[in-house]
This record gives sequence, C-alpha cells and structure tokens, in this order.
Amino acid sequence: EELRQECLNCRKCGLCQTRTNVVFGVGKEDAEVMFIGEGPGQQEDLKGEPFVGRSGQLLDKLMATVDLFRDRNIYIANTVKCRPPQNRDPEQEEIAACMGYLRNQVALIRPKIIVCVGRIAAMTLIQPDYKVTRQHGEWIQKNGVWMMGTFHPAALLRNPYNTKNGFADFLSLREKIQELGIKI
Ligand code: URA
Ligand code: SF4
Repeated sequence: EELRQECLNCRKCGLCQTRTNVVFGVGKEDAEVMFIGEGPGQQEDLKGEPFVGRSGQLLDKLMATVDLFRDRNIYIANTVKCRPPQNRDPEQEEIAACMGYLRNQVALIRPKIIVCVGRIAAMTLIQPDYKVTRQHGEWIQKNGVWMMGTFHPAALLRNPYNTKNGFADFLSLREKIQELGIKI
C-alpha cells in the first residue's frame, strides 16, 4: 500500500505530464504467477487498471483457459505505470525511471513464475535483444523465478495467425504451474 501510494504520486519521468491515472497493478498480492505487460493504453489510463481494453479482454480469455483470473490467483502489472502518448513504445529512460516500482512489486509479491507479455517486457526482464517470434514460450530461471515471454495480445489481434502459438504458451504455463506444484 505504501509503494502504491508512492507510485500514484510519482513524477520521476515525463509520462507523468500526460497521464490521466497511474496504473500501478491489480490482482492478488500473494499470487504465485505474475504477468507483466508494456504500459497502459488509453482504456487503462482512463480506468487506472492494467489490461482492460481490447488486448486485456483477449488476455483475460487466454488466462481463463488455464484457470488464471485477476481476482483469484494472479497479479498483473506493467513495465511503465503511466501511458506513453499515442501508445508509443516507452523510452529506455522512462523504463529505467519506473523500474524501481516493478522491482519492489516483484520483491513484495514474490511470484514463482513471471510471464512477460510482449517484446518490451521481455526485453526489459529477460534479455535486451529478446525476439518474441523466436523465443516465445521458452522458460528461463532468473533469481529463482521462472520466466517466459509471450506475444502481446495486441500482436495477436493484429495477426491472428499467431494465436495458435500464443495459446501454446499458455498451455506451457499450465504445465509449469503443475510441475512446480503451485496451487491455483
Ligand atoms: N497493453 C499493455 O502492455 N498493458 C496494459 O495494461 C494494456 C495494454
Ligand atoms: Fe513515475 Fe513510472 Fe509514471 Fe514515470 S511512468 S511518472 S516513473 S510511475
């Protein structure tokens, strides 16, 4: 709660000037599985909650296929907490300025699994030259946390050809959850 309050008042980067709401994160604070997206879009900026627009609806559907729900067993946050104007990619300086919040969220929630949703999150958290088309669904362990990158739902909506591959990543996520004996 302290971290949330600090974040809601944040002015550490230029995105504070154009945001409507800070989008801190949503879900269970004792979740074993955490999803991390890129940054708020228009709907998220208006509502103050991550993944509530068209992408979010698809993400919710994909999560539901493997029994994951934001009000029950996961936590969702973004790499940057304020919307980049016109939904442009967040800049390196903005990501760097915001990183402390995400770091602290992960430290407090202590998930066993982190799913990076889209290129920006995977580049930030897994590997700077991460390639989603080539590496999606691959598991790596970092500081004792299992991590995987997958397609951003916006990319699936643009190119439904990828939907099958995106869905396969969620099946792999379900296997990992079972393998680790996580109760969801
Ligand atoms: N896209 C993201 O990466 N995050 C959101 O919260 C919404 C859309
Ligand atoms: Fe602060 Fe992050 Fe918002 Fe920038 S994007 S103002 S660092 S909360």
